[in-house]
Amino acid sequence: MPVTVVVGAQWGDEGKAKVIDLLAKEHSYVVRYQGGHNAGHTVVVGGERYALQLVPSGILYEHVVPVIANGVVVDLPTLFDEIDMLEARGVSCAQLRISSRAHLIFPWHQAHDAIAEAMRGDDKIGTTLKGIGPAYADKARRVGVRVGDVLDAERFARLVRERAVAENTLIEQAGGEPLDVDEIVARFGELGARVAPFVGDTVGLLHGALARGAHVLLEGAQATFLDLDHGTYPYVTSSNPTAGGACAGTGLGPRDIDRIVGITKAYTTRVGAGPFPTELFDADGDSLVDVGREYGTVTGRRRRAGWLDCVMLRQAVRLNSLTELALTKLDILDGFETIKICTGYRLDGELLEHYPDRSELIAEVEPVYETIPGWGSVLSDKREPGQLPPEAKRFIEIVEQQVGVPVKVVGVGAERDDYLVWAS
Ligand code: GDP
Ligand code: IMO
Ligand code: MG
Repeated sequence: MPVTVVVGAQWGDEGKAKVIDLLAKEHSYVVRYQGGHNAGHTVVVGGERYALQLVPSGILYEHVVPVIANGVVVDLPTLFDEIDMLEARGVSCAQLRISSRAHLIFPWHQAHDAIAEAMRGDDKIGTTLKGIGPAYADKARRVGVRVGDVLDAERFARLVRERAVAENTLIEQAGGEPLDVDEIVARFGELGARVAPFVGDTVGLLHGALARGAHVLLEGAQATFLDLDHGTYPYVTSSNPTAGGACAGTGLGPRDIDRIVGITKAYTTRVGAGPFPTELFDADGDSLVDVGREYGTVTGRRRRAGWLDCVMLRQAVRLNSLTELALTKLDILDGFETIKICTGYRLDGELLEHYPDRSELIAEVEPVYETIPGWGSVLSDKREPGQLPPEAKRFIEIVEQQVGVPVKVVGVGAERDDYLVWAS
């Protein structure tokens, strides 16, 4: 399996980082292909919790070359905070490679993100305010500054100044506080010099690695239903987390990829606004949040929570060509007497055959549930399928049957080793 993609099958925070950490054992490159520091990827090893936003989740292995590929938007202050944090904890980032084609995030992107959200009033998307949308917008309008631009310091300073001056005009027009142009030029000059040794042609690097027989793991951030094209627009992020985005975001071709792992929690969460058919507003929803510790890694926001939605997962299979699922956080359902699984949607009394194409419709559907008994015992010490209570096995089997792809891995705790292989 030379190239594997890991993609969130819901609205993010499915436990992608934990699965990537697990799969990284057998891969020598781990590559972020989209998004930026809006991601919060958590790996827990021996009680040590690593919260990563930009550095690929394979960083904890010495044999892994971590790569930030062209599809990512890079916030240099966050990148170096993260590198400093990792190095201080004994994790070397010396092998990190960053694509010269990746775009940079600047303070004006964050200013525009905040202004746009304020202007939406009650209609806020609930972005992470990291400047992700404005940075991708600049890329699309062809005024972005790229990581490779740092390699010519004089030209980089000129570009940053030009952009800062132009953006200040827009910020002031929108009623915002103008940014200190000289301070930004000076600060990014230093950051540019610091990032320069990491910068290179990651397309050449990855194709060279494949030619030598290396195994490459492509790490999705965000998720299928936050995808700019296929998610619940406009309540989405500004990149393509779906597996197709992994090609555009790395320069690997579609035929290079042969394994696509969709990550889903055993229930559903969402942070930020937008439709959520199985959302719970009762004690069960509170339990999912409390037991599952469903608070954002990046923003600390309480996540919205609800039952597992197999209609979404079936759509995720189609959109990503998923070859398998990893089912995480099954242990969070330990205490539930009964558990619901959404198997269909009704709209105006009719059972839908396909996932609705418009967010307005998704907001109106009524979930159809299958209700099953809970297992009433603790799963966190289980390491073999045979040790699982019959009700937990049934839950997994229903998911497989509903979604139509095998569940390969089941997560039963946050620690690196808290999982079992369901099918190999
Ligand atoms: P990501 O953004 O998809 O990488 O996920 P996050 O790191 O934002 O959120 C997932 C959270 O669940 C993290 O705190 C993980 O440590 C934790 N986690 C992952 N898998 C499991 C699991 O199987 N059981 C439990 N209890 N926690 C898990
Ligand atoms: P990981 O990789 C969950 C959500 C935000 C908001 C919307 C747009 O940890 O799964 P943005 O700042 O990207 O413009 O915000 O997307 N969002 C995430 N939700 N997990 C994430 O990343 C997210 N990244 C963005 O909450 O609703
Ligand atoms: Mg996360």
